[in-house]
Amino acid sequence: MNKNLSKSQIEELIMDIENKTKLIIPPIKCQGIKTKLVSWIKDNLSTLKFDRWLEPFMGSGVVGFNVRPHYAIFADTNIHLINFYNAIKNGEITPSIARSFLESESIKLAKSGQKYYNEVRERFNSNFKSLDFLFLNRSCFNGMIRFNRYGKFNVPFGHKPNRFSKAYITKIVNQIDYISQAVKLLDWQFVCQDFRETLKKLSKNDFIYCDPPYLGRHVDYFDSWNDEDEKDLFNILNKSNSKYILSTWHSNQFRSNKEIEKYNKQNIQTKEHFYHVGASEKNRNAMTEALILNYLLPKQKIDYTIRSGVQLQIMEPKSSYKARK
Ligand SMILES: C[S@@+](CC[C@H](N)C(=O)[O-])C[C@H]1O[C@@H](n2cnc3c(N)ncnc32)[C@H](O)[C@@H]1O
Repeated sequence: MNKNLSKSQIEELIMDIENKTKLIIPPIKCQGIKTKLVSWIKDNLSTLKFDRWLEPFMGSGVVGFNVRPHYAIFADTNIHLINFYNAIKNGEITPSIARSFLESESIKLAKSGQKYYNEVRERFNSNFKSLDFLFLNRSCFNGMIRFNRYGKFNVPFGHKPNRFSKAYITKIVNQIDYISQAVKLLDWQFVCQDFRETLKKLSKNDFIYCDPPYLGRHVDYFDSWNDEDEKDLFNILNKSNSKYILSTWHSNQFRSNKEIEKYNKQNIQTKEHFYHVGASEKNRNAMTEALILNYLLPKQKIDYTIRSGVQLQIMEPKSSYKARK
């Protein structure tokens, strides 16, 4: 420690470091949430300057919320996500409104469990209120967001009637508070629209962070992805003069992602990531995540061995392959 610094200067430095390393967790979770990749994504943004942050597939919004751009468009085809953030923006949901709502709902959930969860789910499916969406998202199975083909939320109860402890409610309220503060200070727009619309008028001063659904995964009312979407996104990104990062997967122990091949002129960074299947520690599966960048940071080099997942499997014996950290 530098002995010439005063106590208050040291405290200020510590606060600064804490703020820089603190991870903002959004109030609404979704499958595919990139919480674990945020710091890697931020490292790949480095000190790049841009005027507009465009996030056409916001999901939980965890990436943009942590980047904290001055001007941002967060878009998604799921209207309930967008309504939730607009309700915070227009003051319909405040930290204290959310606290009293969750406190009163927690008593009913603790008393009637699944029966009450189903009641709220029915209520949400008839009036689509954002606070009910929050309640369901935080008490359903695995914090999933899934809608049937009629646009009705259909995730079952997470079987934790005492889910909303005092500490848990405070945590959610603090997450809402962060967004309430941010939308007062910064210019953040939340828009329900298709990515083709969000990426219509691009300029070289825009930065695009794309995290589309993966081809061949579960399809639902709001969240589907087909070959045409995949092709359209590629064409838009390819033609644009904005900088972008596209999140996708590179490979797992069984397969590699062929969709990456069309981006083979870009800078592809990979990182191995472990996830658990079920509760057992033994069932740890590795997945190699990829970030596709259309720019190169000063210290980055293009790693030609990872340009195509498919090539990689042919060229290298599997055991010798180590993703870059
Ligand atoms: C993988 S998730 C994004 C996850 C997000 N990056 C996070 O960390 O939480 C993909 C999102 O894209 C949305 N989506 C699906 N198809 C879309 C489309 N055609 N245009 C815009 N958004 C779409 C889904 O509703 C979903 O929220």
